Amino acid sequence: MTQHDSRARTALVVVAHHRTDSLTAHTARRAAAQLETAGYRVDLLDLHAEGFDPRMTVEDQPDWGNREKEYSEEVRTHMRRILDADAVVAVFPVYWQSVPAILKGWIDRVWNYGFAYGRSKPRLAGKRILWLGLAGATADDPITAGMRAVLETSLNEGIAYYCGFSHSTVGLLSDAEERPQRIDTEGNLLVGDAVTGAEREAQYTAFDRRTQEFVEAFIAEEFVAA
Ligand SMILES: Cc1cc2nc3c(=O)[nH]c(=O)nc-3n(C[C@H](O)[C@H](O)[C@H](O)COP(=O)(O)O)c2cc1C
Repeated sequence: MTQHDSRARTALVVVAHHRTDSLTAHTARRAAAQLETAGYRVDLLDLHAEGFDPRMTVEDQPDWGNREKEYSEEVRTHMRRILDADAVVAVFPVYWQSVPAILKGWIDRVWNYGFAYGRSKPRLAGKRILWLGLAGATADDPITAGMRAVLETSLNEGIAYYCGFSHSTVGLLSDAEERPQRIDTEGNLLVGDAVTGAEREAQYTAFDRRTQEFVEAFIAEEFVAA
């Protein structure tokens, strides 16, 4: 319990991974527990476990002529869960310097015209979002800075702020692979040895600590902004 308890908040934690024993799922569980400890009610949305279909349907295609359009029941259920949340925390593996298809499909289908955008006062106005992206690249890989910039542009500017969120942060969690990988100057993928024993423990402890710091800063910023 913390000093923030008096201000009950709901966090929608969205997990986009097909394996429950993945580092992504582990990271989502830790983030959810940390939010609960800070006094949030957590709504855990595991897109794979709930069988979310990321394929756009005719019913859920934006209807540019009608921002009051009722989308499919599945999508309306997800819209209600977003509306009920003060904060959204999306946890996902970085795929091709972007979000995986299931998370992209959730945004494409659910963050729809008339709901997430297309109004002078967007329905998502004032909400806050943290994007926790796990990346295989190491922190010192030259590709990582560019990847962070690409993610910040597309997730903060292209999606969150476009939809009226008051705050959006990308927490890029590099070094998410047991075997360090990097691309050399000739384009070859170099895969290092898997870390083991104490070194492995230290790597995961450091990884968890970085997750904790991103979530801590995200929670703290709410009270600075309020
Ligand atoms: C299809 C695919 C694309 C990927 N693209 C990237 C990438 O662009 N940058 C990167 O650093 N890692 C990339 N990776 C590595 C994943 O980010 C990494 O395996 C994952 O974060 C590890 O977490 P997990 O064990 O929970 O899956 C990719 C992996 C896959 C399968």
